[in-house]
Amino acid sequence: MSDSQATSKAQSVETTNQQSAGTTVEGETQEKLRDEWVQYDFDGETAIKTQDVNVHYGDEHALHDISMEIPKNSVTALIGPSGCGKSTFLRCLNRMNDRIKAASVSGEVEFDGKNIYDDGTNLVELRKRVGQVFQSPNPFPKSIRENISYGPRKHGDIDVSLLSRLLGRDDRAEEEELVERCLRQAALWDEVNDRLDDNALGLSGGQQQRLCIARALATDPEVLLMDEPASALDPIATSRIEDLINDLSDDYTVVIVTHNMQQAARISDQTAVFLTGGYLVEYDDTDKIFENPESQRVEDYITGKFG
Ligand SMILES: Nc1ncnc2c1ncn2[C@@H]1O[C@H](COP(=O)(O)OP(=O)(O)O)[C@@H](O)[C@H]1O
Ligand SMILES: [Mg+2]
Repeated sequence: MSDSQATSKAQSVETTNQQSAGTTVEGETQEKLRDEWVQYDFDGETAIKTQDVNVHYGDEHALHDISMEIPKNSVTALIGPSGCGKSTFLRCLNRMNDRIKAASVSGEVEFDGKNIYDDGTNLVELRKRVGQVFQSPNPFPKSIRENISYGPRKHGDIDVSLLSRLLGRDDRAEEEELVERCLRQAALWDEVNDRLDDNALGLSGGQQQRLCIARALATDPEVLLMDEPASALDPIATSRIEDLINDLSDDYTVVIVTHNMQQAARISDQTAVFLTGGYLVEYDDTDKIFENPESQRVEDYITGKFG
């Protein structure tokens, strides 16, 4: 990529024109990547900074040299056609790829001044601070209340066991506060406060997904990773999730994968466009990406020419 840095603007236009004659099987033009397209300048603090992240699944090179800085307390959208590595990249941000046997990750992911891939990283702690919400709502087959308090109970932050009560520790009031706070933050409290002991699986899909967001909030994360959190939901439930994400970005850093470009345009502050082969092609303010992208391929993708 360093040769592209040296290339003048005039040359690059020429190159682009020459190359636009050839298209890949996926219908993408073959265009050189340019470092400046992925350098995103913003005001404010950085929540996560990745440096030359590469991911292989066995022989498949799924992500190439991804370097990006994710601003704190804002919404960053990751978009691009299916299979371009969005989920893979998201999983790099709290080492969820560790759980995939075939995956090997290189490069650095800096969070809170440390590379999370350094030896000795406490993964439980990391995933508390960098929480996640999946594509399909996956509440535990437990009560609404227990879904929220599950993490804090597991980590020992809340203890409501009979034994502990006999020994003089009773966190039931803390648990009530936590459950209410998280459900309110996830815009679900008003709908469920009279049935906290009901099984969470009885909720609608949209409510279940908001419950999963509330559950992710219960461990007090700083960053929330969301992989197509609304793709299984109807339009009304989707719009509630979008409003919620917007509200959450006052206090949390949200990184969201979506294949829905309108959604990215509606809810994100900045957008990173990944394209086939696992390349980050352009990263900038969402308005800039959607109104005036630098890359022809990004423009073609956004205007629906492929993907
Ligand atoms: N668990 C896995 N094992 C092997 N290959 C995988 C795995 N997950 C993803 N891949 C491959 O990595 C590439 C990127 O996939 P993914 O990150 O899921 O893309 P996206 O989320 O953009 O659709 C694809 O070619 C996919 O087949
Ligand atoms: Mg995906």
